[in-house]
Amino acid sequence: MNLSFTKLAALQGDFRAPSDKSMTHRSYMFAAIASSPSLVRNPLRGEDCESTRNALIRLGLRHEMVGTGEFRLVPCKEWVQPDAPLDCGNSGTTIRLLSGLVASRPLLVTMFGDASLSKRPMRRIAEPLRLMGVKFDGETPPVTIRGGQLKAISYNTPVASAQIKSAVLLAALRADGTTVVTEPSLSRDHTERMLSATGVKIDRTGLAVSLAGNQQPSGFEFDVPSDISSAAFFLVAAALMNGSLVTALEVAVNPTRSGILEVFDQVGVPYELRNPRVTMNEQVADVTVGTAPVLRPFKIEEELVPRLIDEIPILAVLATQCEGTSVIRGARELRVKESDRIAVMAEGLTRMGAKIEVFEDGMAISGPTPLTGIKVDSHLDHRIAMSFAVAGSIARDVTEIVGAEAIQTSFPTFESELNRLGIS
Ligand code: S3P
Repeated sequence: MNLSFTKLAALQGDFRAPSDKSMTHRSYMFAAIASSPSLVRNPLRGEDCESTRNALIRLGLRHEMVGTGEFRLVPCKEWVQPDAPLDCGNSGTTIRLLSGLVASRPLLVTMFGDASLSKRPMRRIAEPLRLMGVKFDGETPPVTIRGGQLKAISYNTPVASAQIKSAVLLAALRADGTTVVTEPSLSRDHTERMLSATGVKIDRTGLAVSLAGNQQPSGFEFDVPSDISSAAFFLVAAALMNGSLVTALEVAVNPTRSGILEVFDQVGVPYELRNPRVTMNEQVADVTVGTAPVLRPFKIEEELVPRLIDEIPILAVLATQCEGTSVIRGARELRVKESDRIAVMAEGLTRMGAKIEVFEDGMAISGPTPLTGIKVDSHLDHRIAMSFAVAGSIARDVTEIVGAEAIQTSFPTFESELNRLGIS
């Protein structure tokens, strides 16, 4: 599927971005291991989370729709040995977190994914899970896991990754003893917050999280808030397009996820948070953003990277319009996401007219430069496709995105929402 974008317009109105992807994955997984049924309202119905739900159903999770956009999930009583490999699609969160879940069960499970997932590194979870006693084969998908009784470990993750941390914590729920995971800097902490809301005792001291084995979440009710990583495309578009004012409703603004607001502070993008509330220990607010009167350049260093890791492609688009040189460093992890996001963004934006110096761990982008539409490939990466859609919306001429179906993994209504807010 190809999509084309041309018009430069102001963005106006309220919108609800799709529900949070990380939280939807976790709500399905925690429901599968809970001691009683759970209700999940408004889960993200994008392909990534459907991969998680379908894989869990194959393992014994039962589900029924009880209202529009509401699932009643009945935990796996007896885990089912799947009779064929589980398809994780494009989703790193599915394959890595599920690895942690099946690790402590007497199952032999093979998981595979699409061409993008098949290139992504799995040693980062294989290493700690092997230390816990799991038999794990596969440096990249497909991976095969033989689970069983696990021992607790004390593990320092080589990179700040919520996927590594969460895989180990999920395995640790049934391990013998207390597991401690220490990160180089704090990655998103949904697993810790949401698990503790279900009654699991989990402690943090600085960058170390500890969890004693033999614990089980209780069933829960959860209204999934919307995803700041999806809202980001519209918030940046509003910052760039004169006369815009948009409100993203019910956005999860967990401090380990909302680093984009720190960049907005640096750039001078006006924003406001209203109607704060908390659900399953997660903070939620309506986020209103207007057009920036002047766009100052910004700096993202290693410590900030985990708090906005998925927003860097769209922030690279913002940087092309800032007055001066914006610098992104300490972001080597971008090279092993759904695509090599440093290479793909730098290559496409340079072809559109941006001035970019590429580093192994980031880029320096000097602006402002006018952009011109191009034909660009999504590389099976939803965030690349949506970032170039926004770049195309401020560019001269037409931008055509090849492989735009990748957007279905996280934001099935992206195109209609863009149209509704004023871009076509
Ligand atoms: C995710 C964690 C992040 C993020 C991904 C979702 C999660 O990956 O990029 O989109 O749900 O835990 P890492 O924590 O491995 O960087």
